[in-house]
Amino acid sequence: MEESAAAPDRGHSIVYAPRIQDLLAREEKVFRIDATTVGVSHCDLIADVVAARPVRSAERSVYKPAAGADIPHDSATRTIRALGKDVMEGIRTPPPPARGLNGPWPYAATSYLRQWLFASDPLPVSLLSKRGITRSPALSRIVDRAVTVWPEPGGAGHGRTALAEQIRSASDARERGQAIAMYRRATATLCDGVAALTGNALWLMGPAGREQLMGRAGRKQLMDSAGREHDVAGADLTAVLWETLRLLPPAWMLYRTGGDAYAGLHPDIRREDNVALFPLLMHRHPDYWSEPMDFRPERWTGVPDPEKTPAFMPFGFDGARCWAKHLVVPLAERLLTVALDNRLAVRVPNQETHVPLRSLLSVRFDARSGA
Ligand code: HEM
Repeated sequence: MEESAAAPDRGHSIVYAPRIQDLLAREEKVFRIDATTVGVSHCDLIADVVAARPVRSAERSVYKPAAGADIPHDSATRTIRALGKDVMEGIRTPPPPARGLNGPWPYAATSYLRQWLFASDPLPVSLLSKRGITRSPALSRIVDRAVTVWPEPGGAGHGRTALAEQIRSASDARERGQAIAMYRRATATLCDGVAALTGNALWLMGPAGREQLMGRAGRKQLMDSAGREHDVAGADLTAVLWETLRLLPPAWMLYRTGGDAYAGLHPDIRREDNVALFPLLMHRHPDYWSEPMDFRPERWTGVPDPEKTPAFMPFGFDGARCWAKHLVVPLAERLLTVALDNRLAVRVPNQETHVPLRSLLSVRFDARSGA
């Protein structure tokens, strides 16, 4: 059984996987993790590492090579534009019944988002990113093959997402193979990431915070002195999400394989060392934040561009900034609104939730809608 260690977060206990807990206990901002890996949570050094060289194609997640070749830049940008169109369309569409949010989080939320945004895609395209399938390489290969022969290339587009249209309109076998891979990776990254962020926010808000915003999450209520109406609760939720991205950032660790580019940046980093960058640690360091362990959404109120805040990089730094960041927060806000409007209850035994060691940092709990 996995050992665990508890750490308090605003009155709740989060039981982090032991390796994350070890990292959280580190006070130094540059430290050795093992014989070939150096950990960094120093703000300037992280910025230097990110800027030292572009991310290699094999280090990328969504745009790592597929179908035996690098993803060309223009098809990468087309994919992001298509995803943006599908997300904006989804945000405008009524959500599926809230009972879809019941069950273990973040998985229930991942399936719910997939249902909401991509259910219009016919089989087998919609199976590409289904959890039960992506977990099995054999099933993934079968679905890939089915999508490769479907739909008829050049056939009429009907009721499918812009992302699926990228597959249909591919001009040759390689482009089609890459479009299939990017559909799978983009939908999975989006649904997993937004589910993790929203779940982390629901947890950090606690019962009192959730109660405060329940039922008024989507309402526009106040007028300012000039008579303009303001979506007050909406603004609150945005601040809740930025504060969640600080305290429990889904992208908690960024990794770079070693080489000359980093060796000169710090005496502890050698040529052969890989570098692990930790937004999770930087976002909690008392040198950078006042009352760093407190969940205080108010700290973001009136901040026009949170990403310009020093020592804050939930979506990366200049040089490798997330291409989808403008989609993630609005979609998470929409999902959080649905959860609150439907009085989603968060259940965990003994008010203790677990954060396992995964590439995305997400708390685990069971949810029931109470509407
Ligand atoms: C909650 C969701 C997400 C979070 C928290 C997130 C966070 C990040 C972070 C921290 C980086 C910097 C990585 C590094 O420097 O190593 C990054 C880069 C990137 N992200 Fe995201 N991301 C999310 C969703 C997505 C989605 C849905 C897509 C596209 C489908 C996407 C596409 C990218 C791309 C293209 C990069 C640039 C890295 C590269 O050059 O390959 N992200 N993201």
